[in-house]
Amino acid sequence: MSVHSSSSERYSKPAIFFHWLIVVLVALAYLAIEIRGPKGSDSRAFWSDIHFWAGTLVLGLALCRLLWRLWQAPPAEIESNPLLAFLARLAHLALYVFIFVQPLLGMLMSNAAGYPVDLAWLNIEFSLIGPDAIAAPMLKSAHVWLGNAFYWIIGLHALAALVHHFVLKDRTLKRML
Ligand code: HEM
Ligand code: HEM
Repeated sequence: MSVHSSSSERYSKPAIFFHWLIVVLVALAYLAIEIRGPKGSDSRAFWSDIHFWAGTLVLGLALCRLLWRLWQAPPAEIESNPLLAFLARLAHLALYVFIFVQPLLGMLMSNAAGYPVDLAWLNIEFSLIGPDAIAAPMLKSAHVWLGNAFYWIIGLHALAALVHHFVLKDRTLKRML
């Protein structure tokens, strides 16, 4: 435990800002893809644009967040049970990987299928790779699979935070607020 740690220590303001803004944008990406509507409809075009924007912003913010995390270390862990501390670290690592890999898979999947990433309203278009008929379905499966798997990981992570707050009544959630 570092000499700076104390039970009143909290995450820094930028770390809190990045955490919650990314939560909102990931939720928006999920919501948009769930409610986009049938192929060819205006609703599908609109919500797909929201999905691309939200996901791309997640990637940009994930980079800022990681750099900040390396600049300023998080507060000392509260969890004293070694197994639960390990699981929490594993979940946090998985969540960090997710906010990079999921948007990247979305972009690569679109490019491989022959579409550039098209960020509506600002008319930004870019491609990371060219069309690739073999990679396209694999990248799509990976994006859909990871998206579905992380409903669970995010749910468990949020549940753990709520259990800490309401059942164990410690400062785990408060220091991220
Ligand atoms: C945090 C970011 C993201 C999350 C959580 C996410 C999640 C998802 C999920 C769960 C689906 C599958 C929906 C289904 O069950 O069919 C999906 C589909 C899709 N995503 Fe993402 N996504 C993200 C970022 C992106 C980005 C950045 C792009 C591209 C710029 C993208 C492009 C797509 C496309 C084109 C589909 C539709 C696939 C199809 O049905 O043909 N996603 N996304
Ligand atoms: C898209 C959803 C989410 C993602 C990607 C995410 C990601 C993360 C990551 C990567 C950390 C580790 C922070 C670090 O060590 O730098 C973290 C910590 C934390 N998250 Fe989330 N989170 C999400 C949703 C939530 C929700 C919904 C809640 C609350 C209900 C929550 C509460 C917390 C708390 C309290 C911590 C601090 C845990 C500790 O100090 O041990 N998160 N989150």
